[in-house]
Amino acid sequence: MSAPIQNQVSLMDLEPAADDLTREVLHSLRETPHRLSCRFFYDETGAKLFSKICDLKEYYLTRTELQIMNEYLGEIRHCVGPKAAIIEFGSGSGQKTELLLESLERPWCYAPVDISREQLVELAERMSARFPDLWVQPVCADYNTPFNLDGIIEADARRIVYFPGSTIGNLVPEQAITMLRRMKGLVGDRGAILLGLDLAKSREIIEPAYNDSEGLTAAFNLNALKHVNRVTGTDFNVSAFEHRAIYRPEQYRVEMHLISSANQTVRINGQCIRLEKGNHIVTEYSYKYPLEVFDRLLATAGLRRIRTWFDRNRWFSLQFIQSSACP
Ligand code: AVI
Repeated sequence: MSAPIQNQVSLMDLEPAADDLTREVLHSLRETPHRLSCRFFYDETGAKLFSKICDLKEYYLTRTELQIMNEYLGEIRHCVGPKAAIIEFGSGSGQKTELLLESLERPWCYAPVDISREQLVELAERMSARFPDLWVQPVCADYNTPFNLDGIIEADARRIVYFPGSTIGNLVPEQAITMLRRMKGLVGDRGAILLGLDLAKSREIIEPAYNDSEGLTAAFNLNALKHVNRVTGTDFNVSAFEHRAIYRPEQYRVEMHLISSANQTVRINGQCIRLEKGNHIVTEYSYKYPLEVFDRLLATAGLRRIRTWFDRNRWFSLQFIQSSACP
């Protein structure tokens, strides 16, 4: 294994083109129900709003996952092992990652993968300054589409995909299986996945997390329209939409919607999308699986749960996952 370049941050750029985004938005707005990808939550404003959401009392996910990590860092370190290459899907605020990297035994490389370029570069620089002996390699890419790290991380490194925050819950089950298969391919039989997963529980706990009293989630949801307007040239009238979040336990998910409060027409690339008053656009699903249901997704992807850490209430889980082919 060659020596990592110390304290050097150079971006690997695999960002999708704006034309592809416009095509995707047009296609998803024409679906029934209308849809917009939750990736549009995360422009600079959206990233700041999300970071504030993570600190809300109602949004239990972040603090619960942090509690689990703090309590079980020793066991996590043991499972990951020495000299691992940590590939993080999504760059977030880095709080959990910092905790993880601090606790590991001589991690070899840290590669955050994210579409949000500014946040990614900022995180990479911060991590590089915080861990001067660690090779930090940011990758600007949409981790929902296939990408390859072979030119960067050598084949014999123990690769660990770190995917915290229950972000896998933002994919529908078929997409989650595809993503898990891709992660399995990325880490190979010697590697593993460290995954944060929110679990099914009562409506009284889940719904306020997506309908907070300060209106931050509403602002986060509506901001997706401003972001789409900016990057694809749509003309959404943001004030003609309202935020709604509903928990559907029979489908294991929270749904975030934007409800049209008027009859209106949205233009994109010379085409028109008609929305009647009361019509909704689905902006996000956030799945809250019972453990045994998620295990079935893992099995379909050729993976299995090796270790699971929970908080006191069993609201959230942190899972160490390997290929089913591993002994
Ligand atoms: C990033 N993801 C796991 C968050 C969630 O809880 O599904 C996004 C979010 N949506 C509304 N609030 C937070």
